Amino acid sequence: MKKETFALVYEVYDSAEELSKEDALLLRKAQDAVRLSYAPYSHFHVGTAALLQNGEWIEGSNQENASFPVGICSERVLLSVASSRYPGVPIVAMAVSYKSDLVSSNHPISPCGLCRQTLQEYELRLQHPIRLILGGMDGKVWVLPNTSQLLPLSFTSDDLEIKETGESIRQNQKRV
Ligand code: THU
Repeated sequence: MKKETFALVYEVYDSAEELSKEDALLLRKAQDAVRLSYAPYSHFHVGTAALLQNGEWIEGSNQENASFPVGICSERVLLSVASSRYPGVPIVAMAVSYKSDLVSSNHPISPCGLCRQTLQEYELRLQHPIRLILGGMDGKVWVLPNTSQLLPLSFTSDDLEIKETGESIRQNQKRV
C-alpha cells in the first residue's frame, strides 16, 4: 500500500486591485454579467465571463426555474454559449462573481460539482487549460491555473474507452 496526496495550487489576492490588468478586466466583466442572472428563487445572482483564444469575450449567468432542478449555473450557461457559438475554440480564462441581497459577496465562490465536471470535460475536449478567476464584488480573489484541479480522481471520457479497439470517446469527439 502507498499513499498518494493531491495538492491544489492557487493564488490568493487580497483584492482585485492586485490582479493583472487582464484578470481584473475579466473579473469586472463577470461582475457585470451578474445583472443578466435570473435567480428569483435563490436570490443568488452569479455572473461569468470568459476570454476565448480567438479574442472574443462571452458571458453567462445563472438561469433558474420554478421547477428548481431545471435551473442552470452561470458557468454551464457560459460553456454552452462557448460550445455552440464558437465550437472548437478554447477558453483561455474564465471569471466567476456573484451578488445577493441575502449574503455578503466579499469572498470568492467556487464552481459546484456539476460545473467542475463540465469544465473539466471542456478542458480535455479542447486540450487547453482554463485559467479560473474567482471573486465576489469585493474582497479576496482566487486564481487557479486550470479547472481540472478542482476535480481530482474524476470520471472522464477515457473511462469509456472501447475495449476492443482502444478507441476513446475523446478521439471520436475530435473527429466530428
Ligand atoms: N450557482 C452558480 O450559478 N454558480 C456557482 O458557482 C454556484 C451556484 C447558482 C445556482 C443557483 O441558481 C444559485 O447559484 C444558488 O445556488
